[in-house]
Amino acid sequence: MSTPLPKLDEQTLDSALRPSSWADYVGQDKIKENIQVIITAAKQRSQSPDHLLFYGNSGLGKTTLAYLVANEMGKKIKSTSGPALERAGDLAAILTNLSEGDVLFLDEIHRINKTIEEYLYPALEEYKLNLILGKGPMARTMELKLPKFTLIGATTRPGLLSAPLRNRFGATFQLNFYNLEDIKKIIERSGRLLNIKMEPEAVKAIAERSRFTPRVANRLVKRVRDFAQVQNAEIITEKIAKHALDSLEVDLMGLEPSDRNILLALIEKFNGGPVGLQSLAAAAMEEEETILDIYEPYLMQCGLLERTPKGRVATALAYNHLGLGHLRKQSGLF
Ligand SMILES: Nc1ncnc2c1ncn2[C@@H]1O[C@H](COP(=O)(O)OP(=O)(O)O)[C@@H](O)[C@H]1O
Ligand SMILES: [Mg+2]
Repeated sequence: MSTPLPKLDEQTLDSALRPSSWADYVGQDKIKENIQVIITAAKQRSQSPDHLLFYGNSGLGKTTLAYLVANEMGKKIKSTSGPALERAGDLAAILTNLSEGDVLFLDEIHRINKTIEEYLYPALEEYKLNLILGKGPMARTMELKLPKFTLIGATTRPGLLSAPLRNRFGATFQLNFYNLEDIKKIIERSGRLLNIKMEPEAVKAIAERSRFTPRVANRLVKRVRDFAQVQNAEIITEKIAKHALDSLEVDLMGLEPSDRNILLALIEKFNGGPVGLQSLAAAAMEEEETILDIYEPYLMQCGLLERTPKGRVATALAYNHLGLGHLRKQSGLF
């Protein structure tokens, strides 16, 4: 490429490409529509919108959506995460720094600790915080009045939220995998922003292997660009894109070596399953959490893995995809 660009790490890339207007936020039309209604109605009543919960896999646009909501409301957003709030004081510091109508974005809300969660309830319902000062018989409680704010929670694991916490959100939205057309639009936009020229066929090749996830699509664009740059190519052709993706070991279904490793463990060590998560994690040498949050949702989406009451099972498609059709009979599953 003629103009080398500064090196972008994943986080910088995320914020460089994060859409800042609804028009740039591709897809998820139903969610956009519903959120716009919530915001408009709240504006008409001169109130702050209900607390909102966004859930869905990593990289599908939860953080982006939270920033868009604040933007649309014309308010500031403060951002923190479940694990970052260690003490009640951390929460108090953030809440008391909000102005009327601001948004508090609480990422990984399923990882919030129980004590902090208890403090959060009255803050969400009555906009007040009851702090306990001192210890033992001398302890007193102090009530702090808070500005009216909107909490936006984001999580990859909604099932881990306690019912009382979940119930305090006025609306919950699930972000799903994108369709091919939307991912192509996202890739084209990123190409424009990063000053990368791509043939439509190259865009398509990248989109097909992007796991239908914007963050992955953007990461692949960046990595394919590296290949083009090394070859001094002015434009990314289909051939360059496919060669780059093959070299990166991203296969035609968007699986990377670590995804295939899980399927291989399932097929080769457990005869295709069913096997429990714990055993599968141990055999694949992965964390259970990572399998649940990162790998499994996409493998299930592709129809390569199924969750049954007895455990994880590899599908016929998984055997074929990995070229292990000959092991299928022996599994006794099909
Ligand atoms: N709907 C979208 N349209 C365009 N780009 C998007 C969209 N959703 C996500 N992205 C891109 O993907 C990246 C990851 O999105 P992010 O909101 O951080 O995901 P999450 O918080 O769900 O992990 C963002 O930086 C943005 O560039
Ligand atoms: Mg996020």
